[in-house]
Amino acid sequence: MPLDLSHMRSTLADHYDLAPSAELAASMGDIYGRMDRVVSPPDWAIYAPYVKAINALKKERNAVILGHNYMTPEIFHGISDFVGDSLQLAIKATEVEADVIVQCGVHFMAETSKILSPSKTVLMPDMEAGCSLAESITAEGVEEMRRRYPGAPVVSYVNTTAEVKAASDICCTSSNAAQIVAAQDSHTVIMTPDQYLAQNVARDVPQKNVVWWEGSCIVHEQYTAKDLRDFREWNPGTRLIAHPECPPDVVDEADFSGSTSGIIKYVTDEKPEKAMLITECSMASNIADELPEVDFVGPCNMCPYMKKITLEKVLWSLHSMEGQVEVDATVAEKARLSVQRMIDLSRQLGI
Ligand code: 13P
Ligand code: SF4
Repeated sequence: MPLDLSHMRSTLADHYDLAPSAELAASMGDIYGRMDRVVSPPDWAIYAPYVKAINALKKERNAVILGHNYMTPEIFHGISDFVGDSLQLAIKATEVEADVIVQCGVHFMAETSKILSPSKTVLMPDMEAGCSLAESITAEGVEEMRRRYPGAPVVSYVNTTAEVKAASDICCTSSNAAQIVAAQDSHTVIMTPDQYLAQNVARDVPQKNVVWWEGSCIVHEQYTAKDLRDFREWNPGTRLIAHPECPPDVVDEADFSGSTSGIIKYVTDEKPEKAMLITECSMASNIADELPEVDFVGPCNMCPYMKKITLEKVLWSLHSMEGQVEVDATVAEKARLSVQRMIDLSRQLGI
């Protein structure tokens, strides 16, 4: 069910003082200091009352907020207790002691947290925050691949529903996909649902016959190799850094490819004078303050699903406790095996 925004707004206005306040904004300068290169003072005056209310309510509810690297800076720096890529957030979900997890990310991430921490309440601030990859395949699709490639193990990206995870043998994320595929005890390995991640892995793991489902990410599939070549020509000296959900010829043109946290680590370690992040827009914004010496240039693409998560919806989910993520117990049990195998193997491989 879509959120009833007018009910949400009137109820929040009855319970919290959410009027923009330059005074409050100034008193929260420690938090603002982490994003003042990318968030203007008038915007911070709008965000500050929400950040204050959420951080207070979080304590009351004994909640933690897990924020994906694609969250906007006011969510990433203002209210998140832990930030990271999909693998880091999944591992964190197994470790937190709070009663409530608020997932600031997309639905499959919240499902993963619920699968790994079934006794906790997992809140999704907007149930409509989906993912084009997760929507591209069902459990029946996994069975179809098994029929096409009998005996081959199925490695499914975490960007999938619980049902797809349950139908798979093991999960992977963009930070461990090549190693997980390489570790499979079979020459042919099925990867679902991201065709481009699979094609990038196939090149990195030539000893395997990697076959794939034809899904793609609507954010990363938009980049072309020509875009990158043109950009390099027009902006000499810029370091191009791509997420592996980009097509392989795009990754070929880049100087580095890695998960969202891999990208952050690369830029933090290398500190290039100019960098273009071939991924979702908030990535550059979230590290701009920490890396004043890096000039983040070039276009980026917005994930419309990630951008459904806003401070207002996070406050509403903690206030109303609506948007609880539930996963059928039988499905969750099987899905947990796939996710846990990935976590265990990643630990074993030191990822
Ligand atoms: P990461 O695992 O690299 O954070 O990627 C998740 C995602 O959805 C990228 O589009
Ligand atoms: Fe899904 Fe792509 Fe958005 Fe990531 S960026 S959540 S893969 S649609």
